[in-house]
This record gives sequence, C-alpha cells and structure tokens, in this order.
Amino acid sequence: RTNGITVAIDGPAAAGKGTVAKAVAAHFGFAHLDTGLLYRAVAAKTLTGMDPEEAARTLAPVDLEDPSLRSPEVAQEASKVAVIPAVRAALVRFQRSFATRAGGAVLDGRDIGTVICPDAPVKLFITASPEVRAQRRFAELSGKGIETSYEDVLEDVRQRDLRDMSRDQAPLKPAEDAKQIDTTEMAIEDAVAAAVALVEAKRG
Ligand code: CDP
Ligand code: CDP
Repeated sequence: RTNGITVAIDGPAAAGKGTVAKAVAAHFGFAHLDTGLLYRAVAAKTLTGMDPEEAARTLAPVDLEDPSLRSPEVAQEASKVAVIPAVRAALVRFQRSFATRAGGAVLDGRDIGTVICPDAPVKLFITASPEVRAQRRFAELSGKGIETSYEDVLEDVRQRDLRDMSRDQAPLKPAEDAKQIDTTEMAIEDAVAAAVALVEAKRG
C-alpha cells in the first residue's frame, strides 16, 4: 500500500455521506463503496420473499445501479434486515477487503468507523437536521423520477434513524475518533473541502 488510505464515513440517512465519499474518492483516485446499497440489495430480495440470511450470502448477482433500490420502501426494508446479525456478518468480509485495497478506499454507511474499519486513519460522521435531509432526499428522488412525497421521505428518515441508532449490533453512532460535520447549513463543497483536508493531513 503506497499512498492509498481508508476513509470511513458514517451518519444518518441522506446526510450527504455518499456525495462527500464520491468527491473524496474522485479527488484522491480512491475506490468508493456505498455500503448502504448492500443492505438495500438484500432488502430488494427479501421483499420478494427470500430469507434475509440467504439473500445476504448470495448477494453477488444484484445490479447496484438499479434505481428501484433507491425507493423509501426498499430503504425501510434495508434498515429492518440490517438489524439481523447474520445479515451483517455475511457482508463484513467483502467490505473489509474493499477497504484495504492498495489504491485507497472510501466507504460510507452506518458502522464503517466503529465496526468495519475501526483502524481507518480518517473517520467522518456527517449529520444534518431530519427536515433538511428529507428535503434533499425528496428533491433527489423526484429528479430521478421516483414518485414519493416529502412527508413519506421524512417519515422514512425518522424511522430508519431510530431503528439504526437503537439496534444491538453495530448501531449508528460516531466513532470516538470521528470528526463530526453538520451539513444542515453547509454547502456540499465545504463539507468536501473539510474531508479532503483531513485526508491530506493523514497522508502526509
Ligand atoms: O449518502 P447519504 O444518504 O448520506 O446522502 P447523499 O445521497 O450524499 O445526499 C442526499 C442528497 O442531498 C443528495 O441529492 C445531495 O446532492 C444532497 N445534498 C445537498 O444538497 N447538500 C449537502 N450539503 C449534502 C447533500
Ligand atoms: O442513503 P441512505 O443514507 O438513506 O441509506 P443507505 O446508506 O442506503 O442505508 C440503508 C439502510 O441500510 C440504513 O438505514 C441502515 O439500516 C442500513 N445500513 C447499515 O445498517 N449499515 C451500513 N453500513 C449501511 C447501511
């Protein structure tokens, strides 16, 4: 591993984790993994009746670009299957090997800094108010042609935050050494600049 490092980004739903993760990865030429998509892909399978543990163990053939994974219904189901320890366990190895690739990696999710990559040199915890997060996610979904309402998105965000924070295994919380960034009143460029500066400092 020459100059690539692992960057762990966590936070509640629609806080801007993915946007910051993508920009940091592009800036440094690191790979990016949206770990929420893994849970959404499991959810898409359990919604058709598959057993959750089986779905997590046989994840390979899913299309992570499939826009149907973005819906609030799939998001809700994702946070329900994410409570199941066997589901989480089945996804650990893939995430850790992705995180330690030579060229550097940025992972975003809920438990990256606490469970998946506790030794990551850079950890961010990105937050924003639930209303602002719901507004941004609603605009994003509308733009992608996914039919929903602000109220439904806010309800999804609130329910998932509660479930994600209160589960026994890998609950959503900042790692002790995570830098917290509140993007409620912050332009995304400023959040990206703060993240890039942290990575620069660690990379030397
Ligand atoms: O990955 P996560 O669910 O945390 O959030 P995201 O998908 O990166 O961001 C949700 C939406 O909010 C996206 O459409 C972003 O472009 C937008 N956003 C924003 O407008 N301003 C910010 N400071 C952060 C995100
Ligand atoms: O994009 P958004 O932040 O709304 O959600 P996501 O990152 O796609 O995650 C969907 C759900 O998967 C979350 O609400 C969590 O319940 C679960 N998840 C998790 O438990 N651990 C992760 N590392 C990532 C997501």
